[in-house]
Amino acid sequence: MATYGHLKVELRTLMRPQDIIAKKRDGGELTSGEIGAFVCGVCDASWADYQISALVMAMFIRGLSRSEGETLVREMLYSGEVLDFSDIDRPKADKHSTGGVGDKTSLIIAPLVAACGVAVPMISGRGLGHTGGTLDKLESIPGYNVNLSTHQFRDIIKKCGFAMAGQTADIAPADKKIYALRDATATVPYIPLIVASIMSKKLAEGLDALVLDVKTGSGAFMQKREDAVALAKAMVECGGKFNVRTEAVVTNMDQPLGKYVGNALEVYECVKILRNDIESAARPTWELSLELSARMLVLSNVAKDIEDAKETCTKKLDSGEALALFRRNIELQGGDPSVCDAPEKLLSDNVERFDITAGCTGFVTAIDTLAIGDAMCVLGGGRTKAEDSIDHAVGFASDLKIGDRVEPGQPLATVICRTSDQFASVSEKLSAAYSISPNCPELLTLILDVIPG
Ligand code: URA
Repeated sequence: MATYGHLKVELRTLMRPQDIIAKKRDGGELTSGEIGAFVCGVCDASWADYQISALVMAMFIRGLSRSEGETLVREMLYSGEVLDFSDIDRPKADKHSTGGVGDKTSLIIAPLVAACGVAVPMISGRGLGHTGGTLDKLESIPGYNVNLSTHQFRDIIKKCGFAMAGQTADIAPADKKIYALRDATATVPYIPLIVASIMSKKLAEGLDALVLDVKTGSGAFMQKREDAVALAKAMVECGGKFNVRTEAVVTNMDQPLGKYVGNALEVYECVKILRNDIESAARPTWELSLELSARMLVLSNVAKDIEDAKETCTKKLDSGEALALFRRNIELQGGDPSVCDAPEKLLSDNVERFDITAGCTGFVTAIDTLAIGDAMCVLGGGRTKAEDSIDHAVGFASDLKIGDRVEPGQPLATVICRTSDQFASVSEKLSAAYSISPNCPELLTLILDVIPG
C-alpha cells in the first residue's frame, strides 16, 4: 500500500500541468489521475497560480462530468485531514448555509442540537462580501477563541456537545487556494466547483448527517430559485456518495433574516432567542433555526419525524438547557459567559443610531437585501478582502418585513454606526433598498423547497 501510494505520487508529478489544462480546454474528460495531479500540485505548490486558474477556467467553460465532479470532491477532501470523532458516543451532525444577510442560525442550532443529544462539530467561515460569517459573529463575544487545534476542538465537543471553530490549515487545504483564485478569476458560480469546495470541507468533519441551507433571493449567492435547487440537489447527491446522510432546504433570502444585521447585534439576537425572549422581528430566525435543527435530529435518528424533533427542540429551549450549553461553550472557548445573562453587554455604547424613514404611504413590496449586506461592508461590519479587519459593533436593525404597511416618516430601519458621516455614506442606498407600493405583495414563505437525501 505504501509502495502504491508512493508510486501514485510519482506518476502525478510526471503529469505536466499544461497537458492537463490543454485536455480540458479542448473539452476532454479528465481521468482521476489527472484530477489528483492537479489537487496535489495545488497543495505542494508545484502548480503556479496561473496554471491553477487556467484549469479552473477551462473546467468552468467546458464543464465537468458527474464522475469528474465526484473525483474532484474526493481529491480535495483527502488533500487534508478527515476528522474522526468515532470516540464520541453520539451521532455527529452539522448544518451548512450558503450565506446570507442576517443569517445567524448556527449560534442557535449548535447548542440546541447538542442539548438534544447530537454532537455538532461546527467548522465555520468568516464573512466575505455582503454575507456575514459565523466566526466574525462569535468574535464579538469578548475573549471567544475560534482558533482551536483539532485536540481542543474534540475536547470541547466532549465537554459540551459542540464546538465552533475555523478551518485549520489541515482541512481541505486545496480548497483554500483554489477558492481564493476562483474568487479573483470570476469562476465561483459553477455548481460542480461549488459542490467540491463546500462538500470537501464539510465531509472532512467526520459527520453522520448534514443539513444544507441553500439560500435564494436578493441577498443570496444563488439569486434564482432554480439555481439554488440545482445546487442543493448536487450537494445532497454528493453527501450520499460519501455515506453522509444529507438533506437540503432552499430558503428565502429576499429580506434579511430576523431583526439585526451586524456581528455583535446578531449574537445579541441569538442570545435573546436562547433566553426565550423572542421579539416579533426575530421570529423568522427562530423558525429557521428550529426547522434546520429538527432536520438534523431526524437525520441523526434521534427523533422519529420533524414534528417530534421540533417538540424536543422547543422543550430544550424552554427548559434553558440550550442556553446553558451555549454558556458552557463560551467558557470553554475562552469567552465571557456573562453575555448569556445580560445580552446587552454585547452592544457597544460607543455608537450612534440613525433612522431611515419611509417617504410615502404603502406596503413594503421588496427589499434589496444585497444592498443592505453591501452597506454593512461600507460601515466596516463586513469585509471586501479576506484580510480586512472588521468593526463588530456596527449594523442595521429593522422590525419591518415584506408586506408590512408604512406611513410617511415611519422608520424603515435603524443604522448603528460610529459617525454621522458613516451614516451619510449608506443612507441613500439603504432608503433605495426598500420598495414601497400601494398594493400589498404576496407574502414570503421562509422554507421554499426541501431536497431529501
Ligand atoms: N462557498 C464556498 O465555500 N465555496 C464556494 O465555491 C462557494 C461558496
